[in-house]
Amino acid sequence: MSTILVTGGAGYIGSHTCVELLNAGYDVVVVDNLCNSSRESLNRVKTITGKELKFYEADIADRDAMSRVFEENDILGVIHFAGLKAVGESVEKPLEYYKNNISGTLEMCEVMRKYNVKNIIFSSSATVYGDPETVPITEQCPKGVCTNPYGWTKSMLEQILTDIQKADPEWNVILLRYFNPIGAHKSGLMGEDPNGIPNNLMPYVMKVAIGQLPQVNVFGNDYPTPDGTGVRDYIHVVDLAVGHVKALEKIMENPGIKIYNLGTGIGYSVLDVIHNVSKAVGKEIPYVIADRRAGDIAECYADATLAKEELGWEAENGIKEMCEDSWNWQKKNPNGYR
Ligand code: NAD
Ligand code: UFG
Repeated sequence: MSTILVTGGAGYIGSHTCVELLNAGYDVVVVDNLCNSSRESLNRVKTITGKELKFYEADIADRDAMSRVFEENDILGVIHFAGLKAVGESVEKPLEYYKNNISGTLEMCEVMRKYNVKNIIFSSSATVYGDPETVPITEQCPKGVCTNPYGWTKSMLEQILTDIQKADPEWNVILLRYFNPIGAHKSGLMGEDPNGIPNNLMPYVMKVAIGQLPQVNVFGNDYPTPDGTGVRDYIHVVDLAVGHVKALEKIMENPGIKIYNLGTGIGYSVLDVIHNVSKAVGKEIPYVIADRRAGDIAECYADATLAKEELGWEAENGIKEMCEDSWNWQKKNPNGYR
């Protein structure tokens, strides 16, 4: 049996990926310091799959703890989700973001090397493209100027992992550039559970739908897009999770370094999302047009052809399923995992 270490496995994307890994027959070891998640998500993973996983509450920068994880388990590869991800907070606390995301990853890679585990799949982001010159975005498009420290941690970690692989070809590195993950597990047992007032669109719309916030603020309706609001490539979190299982199959072929966009290839506007959620909920979601948000771009969606050709992966859920599944999770768990 193959054992996969999932860092940040108690988080939103990590927990959904644990389900898909267990369902695919992998043994799963999770390391998470629970700074942005709770153990309850891992209980839900067990409920959904009927399988056990091993959990270490630890920081990826804690060498002793990480060494124990590698001593005690025969790890084949690492799926590395652990990191801080709030764009606005990263502007306020750059030092904390660079330290947690970059130093944490460096410490972990050293431990991986010590234990001769040299397969890593890294959670990168479409944010590394900056403001793209053209859409859809292919992996060949140049990386751009990030607008915040969080984005830079992704861009820099991509470079660091690329250099590690270049220096030692025994490493296999797959950089997965996610577009905008939304949605939740079909069971309604797992979903996104942000702390405080959400920054991202879908969790904010959900808080309005459940009655905890009065209305959605639409950040600008004067962008050069069909309805003037920002366009993004929303991808169902379960499709994204399956993408990681496919990337694992790929990494077993010793591919060296690979980069894949994980998106649907379709862009939806903020108003498209609000209207689709209204349909899923069965009532109109109130919104107002507000000022643009600093650092936002007009349009961002993927060309996801490469992932289809090389990983045999393609998103299966559309915007309707994404909105229905987000709502199913929200209404069954009005206070998330708490
Ligand atoms: P999340 O916050 O739900 O999950 C991240 C997990 O990592 C959390 O459980 C947190 O407790 C843990 N963590 C953070 N720092 C840690 C550390 N030093 N040691 C151990 N655990 C630590 O976020 P998510 O949405 O599931 O994102 C997962 C990954 O995907 C992140 O790296 C994120 O940057 C990246 N990503 C997310 C999005 C998105 O929109 N959600 C988009 C692109 C990329
Ligand atoms: N938006 C609103 N109102 C809100 C929140 C968002 O109108 O209350 C709009 C934004 O202006 C944007 C769209 O909804 O046009 C999506 O915004 P999100 O904050 O949900 O997502 P972003 O595209 O800004 O960024 C997200 C993650 C980044 C990641 C990027 C690409 O936050 O970390 O997707 O993966 F890099």
